[in-house]
Amino acid sequence: LTATLNKAGVRNISTDLWGIFFEDISYSGDGGLNADLVQNGAFEYNRADSADWSNYSFWRKIVPEGSFAAFDVLTDDPVACENPHYAAIEVGQAPVALENVGWDGMVFRTGETYDFSAWMRITSGSPMPVAIALLGDDGDVLAETTVTIGNTVWNSIEASLNVAAGAATQGALRLTFAQPGTVDLDFVTLEPHTTYKGLKHFRPDLVEALAELHPRFMRFPGGCITHGLGMDNMYHWDRTIGEVEHRPHNFNLWGYHQSFRIGYYEYLRLCETIGAKPLPVLPAGVSCQNTSQGPVPIAQKDMPAYIDEVLHLIEFCNGDATATEWGAKRAAMGHPEPFGLEYLGIGNEDLIDPVFRNRFQQIFDAVKAAYPDIVVVGTVGPAPSGQDYEEGWKYAREANVPIVDEHSYQSSSWWFHNLDHYDDADRKGPKIYLGEYGSWNTQLINGLSEAAFMGRMELNGDAVAMASYAPLFAKNGHHSWNPDLIYFDNERTYLPYSYWVQRMYATTTADTAWPVTLEGPTALRRDLPNTVRLLIDGNAKADLKDLTVTTTAGKRIQLGDVRYDARRIDTGLDISADGYTIDATVVYYEGRWGMQLISGDVDGRNHNVVSLGRGHS
Ligand code: AHR
Repeated sequence: LTATLNKAGVRNISTDLWGIFFEDISYSGDGGLNADLVQNGAFEYNRADSADWSNYSFWRKIVPEGSFAAFDVLTDDPVACENPHYAAIEVGQAPVALENVGWDGMVFRTGETYDFSAWMRITSGSPMPVAIALLGDDGDVLAETTVTIGNTVWNSIEASLNVAAGAATQGALRLTFAQPGTVDLDFVTLEPHTTYKGLKHFRPDLVEALAELHPRFMRFPGGCITHGLGMDNMYHWDRTIGEVEHRPHNFNLWGYHQSFRIGYYEYLRLCETIGAKPLPVLPAGVSCQNTSQGPVPIAQKDMPAYIDEVLHLIEFCNGDATATEWGAKRAAMGHPEPFGLEYLGIGNEDLIDPVFRNRFQQIFDAVKAAYPDIVVVGTVGPAPSGQDYEEGWKYAREANVPIVDEHSYQSSSWWFHNLDHYDDADRKGPKIYLGEYGSWNTQLINGLSEAAFMGRMELNGDAVAMASYAPLFAKNGHHSWNPDLIYFDNERTYLPYSYWVQRMYATTTADTAWPVTLEGPTALRRDLPNTVRLLIDGNAKADLKDLTVTTTAGKRIQLGDVRYDARRIDTGLDISADGYTIDATVVYYEGRWGMQLISGDVDGRNHNVVSLGRGHS
């Protein structure tokens, strides 16, 4: 073999190549990163979250024999009209308790302090003593404290409970109302006092797992979550900041609930804490296409307000704390220094049709005019069925979008067979952000296939500006997607091969690539039976005409014309003892195409892979 270093072909590898993509999927937000142990603490769960849920879900009323109590959910005169439901408890004969069972039980650790908060008021009777208790697996009390509610207007209550001895994995929170009377209750939270580097409201072990990936950037909050299922479900970043009670809850299109206790300010703080540049993704003014009504655009009359919403985010991140309205809001939250936003994502997997182009262009133009230094990251279209991003790329080139996000979930063999996927990427057009990718399983072969592909992406790191595996998190027992980079339950994380691959690349990153070409015989494994198989890779739209395979011994198979959608053609031709030639004419192609000749055995194992050609329209 001769290896030749191409000194003239030196490339600068993007310094932001390896990042992470956080999407609120598979209980990554509430029940995951959100450290709150109480589920449905605001009594806002409803049928939109799940057909099995109601405002009472995950709460139980404990009425000892001889006691009497009513537990209702009401909406008149709430703490916050954005989340109007609250619990109204009428204690006829005391004591009566409400228990919350959390997210598959609560974990309490020996020595840990737990911070409790809630809003309460009495609506009749004298001041109400409320005992707050952390219960162990058998219902034993691990920690307890009592507060007295004397106010008839809503009051924020806080308390701390230390678990001096004992622990639980299936614990619960119990609130005991100790005398007859009526009490209203809302926004109940409980979280461990320990944080990762002072980052409140986040589960420390999950943040640590992210920090150890050394991500250069973090894309958030989705994915499909961003544009949402219909207008009512679209993500509005400015509704997720400020006092948590006033952040309107919403259903999560992955089948659960979003309290937005972790909202945009918290995401930005997370990025800062783990040293990742923020890459927020905002809807491109169009809702998700995967609904019965298809993609719905924001009405043109509402676009100016929506564009303001987008611009406000940039001001919120980068605006001066005293001279700008949104910079001042950030400062009031405790962060006078700007967050230093460089990237802004617009759109996720949107159908690239005239409506999308129109809405995207309006937003893109406004951002460029107001903030020319912000790098807009566009999208090249929906999760591909045939990897056809051509329409998206065409538009991105026309519109001069600096970076575009494309997604690729594939089998391990696809990754191995497409290592050269970005070799011919257009160096003059938009840069590539492989914003979601992964090999379909959690086996070693999947991690290896990603590693192989990432190595080649790094070599093409002048064209591929950014990349992030997806999805990032999944709570065991609540998967909406498999595989994922970090699995977790209430106690710990489980890190598959893919995690270590990401970590390896991010901690050994290079800044310069020197392409090397290898020359030498492409030897056939002649000790094994071989047949010729032609594989047209997932991107190709190329028909072949007059396809003929001829061995040097003169055996010849004519396959005639092959349409691209045949994808894989087994010739059955035994070439173990022979060389062979392939003749074919590419009669039509569209998009990025590639063809490989694979010789392998009859069981489908590949021994030799030869690239027949690759190109770009
Ligand atoms: O990562 C899971 C989903 O895959 C994302 O929400 C979407 O962008 C893609 O289709």
